[in-house]
Amino acid sequence: MDSTKLTSKGEDFKMRGHLRGLTNYGDPGFSVFARGAYARGFGLTKEDLDKPIIGIAQTWSELNPCHRHLREIAEAVKRGVWQTGGLPLEFPTISLGEMYLNPTAMFFRNLLSMDTEEMIKGQPMDGVVLLGGCDKTLPAQLMGAASAGIPAICVTAGPMIGGRFEDKVLGACSDCRGTWAEYRAGNYDDERLEEVQGSLFPSTGTCMVMGTASTMASLTEAMGMMLPGLAAVPAVNSNRIRLAENSGRRIVDLIEKDITPEKIITRKAFENAIRVLMAVGGSTNAVVHLPAIAGRLGIDLPLSLFDDISRTTPMIGNIRPSGQKYLMEDLAAAGGIPVVMKELEPLLHGDCLTVTGETVTENLSKVQGAQPWQDVIYTREKPISEEGGLVIVKGSLAPDGAVIKISAANSDLLTHTGPAVVFSSQQDLVERIDDPDLPATAESVFVLQNTGPIGAPGFPEAGSMPLPKKLLEAGVRDVVRVSDARMSGTASGTIVLHVAPEAAAGGPLALVRDGDMITLDVTNRRLDLNVSEEELTRRRASLETLPPHYDRGYGKLFIENVLQAPDGCDFGFLRKTE
Ligand code: FES
Repeated sequence: MDSTKLTSKGEDFKMRGHLRGLTNYGDPGFSVFARGAYARGFGLTKEDLDKPIIGIAQTWSELNPCHRHLREIAEAVKRGVWQTGGLPLEFPTISLGEMYLNPTAMFFRNLLSMDTEEMIKGQPMDGVVLLGGCDKTLPAQLMGAASAGIPAICVTAGPMIGGRFEDKVLGACSDCRGTWAEYRAGNYDDERLEEVQGSLFPSTGTCMVMGTASTMASLTEAMGMMLPGLAAVPAVNSNRIRLAENSGRRIVDLIEKDITPEKIITRKAFENAIRVLMAVGGSTNAVVHLPAIAGRLGIDLPLSLFDDISRTTPMIGNIRPSGQKYLMEDLAAAGGIPVVMKELEPLLHGDCLTVTGETVTENLSKVQGAQPWQDVIYTREKPISEEGGLVIVKGSLAPDGAVIKISAANSDLLTHTGPAVVFSSQQDLVERIDDPDLPATAESVFVLQNTGPIGAPGFPEAGSMPLPKKLLEAGVRDVVRVSDARMSGTASGTIVLHVAPEAAAGGPLALVRDGDMITLDVTNRRLDLNVSEEELTRRRASLETLPPHYDRGYGKLFIENVLQAPDGCDFGFLRKTE
């Protein structure tokens, strides 16, 4: 044992395996001795301790049903690591079950990213396999791994298989929302509602439409941080086990070649991911998560980049909720994201490195384009639409931008001027949405204030506001909705989200009043409040400042440091600054 090497600051960090990052007792030699003794306590041999350590960041939790099978996935990863001479050691981080966190899972995304980063850096490991999947977990893990800077590979939980109810194939949570709307409209009784509830989640895994979890998995694959094909394979398909095992083998090779996240997740890799986002009609939440991951690497992803790429990317993914019929399992059967990327190949940066150790072009050389026997993935020449699924709008109501998922919107409403019906908060909306006197018609523009990162707090998925019963009963299923909230990637409608700055940060959204005329003009990328500057100045002068939601703890840290949506809602102090 050469303890003299350990006294030089920095050199110990370069050591492999269990000697990496020694606990500080003021005597490095003792630290080596004691750690070796404790390692034997695991039942490991001296030979095991010479191997590179692969940490497996585990987000299994009994409060996260989407991750119910991640312990089995971890075993597969471990097999792959052992096969290639590494020592796999699984460690827990916090988990973020989308439906099990208050106020929102998004509120905790940065906390998981900090947990992941610090546990990677603080514990002895040479590389890490990130096991995540449910909405915020994967972006949080990528943020943490990008900051930690050691080789990393993602293995996601994978999507659920489709649910069955009568003659329908159900997709969560698009059909959660659709079913609830029918119940509110009086078309479903309590018994039928409960039957659907019992059919929506037929297996472990993440939501099986192209919601946020599936979108982020697809983009992670597209940016090269996950093995090709893995994003769409259902959670319960044995191919996921094989790919997890292969990921265990790959991480050992990434360590040997010192391929760190920053060598894979470059600006070009993000552009590839955004192409895929637009091509599959993916979740608006990606427009928040990608800039957050990029910020950890010192890469700027302005909203204008999303819009530029959207305008030049054909939409070819026929997957719900943007598509009418298909789920992630159908995408997998059609070849998955590799086939989507093959169709987009002329538009992609082929020289980007991936976790296969090869470039995008090399990976795609083994892939065929969309096959004629299926209509899940359209061809580039005959796309579903000539442009991508997401659009960025700006204007007097959203000076720093807002996002709308046009692929899941009502095309008749994409150019629309109507009178505002304003809700000052989520609570206000809950209390008044079914008020018979609410001045709401199919022409209205619903406005929800104080629902952004600071205002709600935690940036809830509240942007897909429920429609009033009286409109539902009249057959109305969509109106233009505008807010500083997010929405679930599984939701649909003509819904403008992430309005920035948010109302609680002084954005003009706070100044809207009932009856103000609002214009949404997607063709010209505009969102405008048709009220004079003088009137807005008068309203601003009488605007009340709302008290902060927290005065201590993580909540206070969040409120004081969270960035606005266009910057990814990361904490400013976590972004790479050099
Ligand atoms: Fe976990 Fe949808 S609730 S992915």
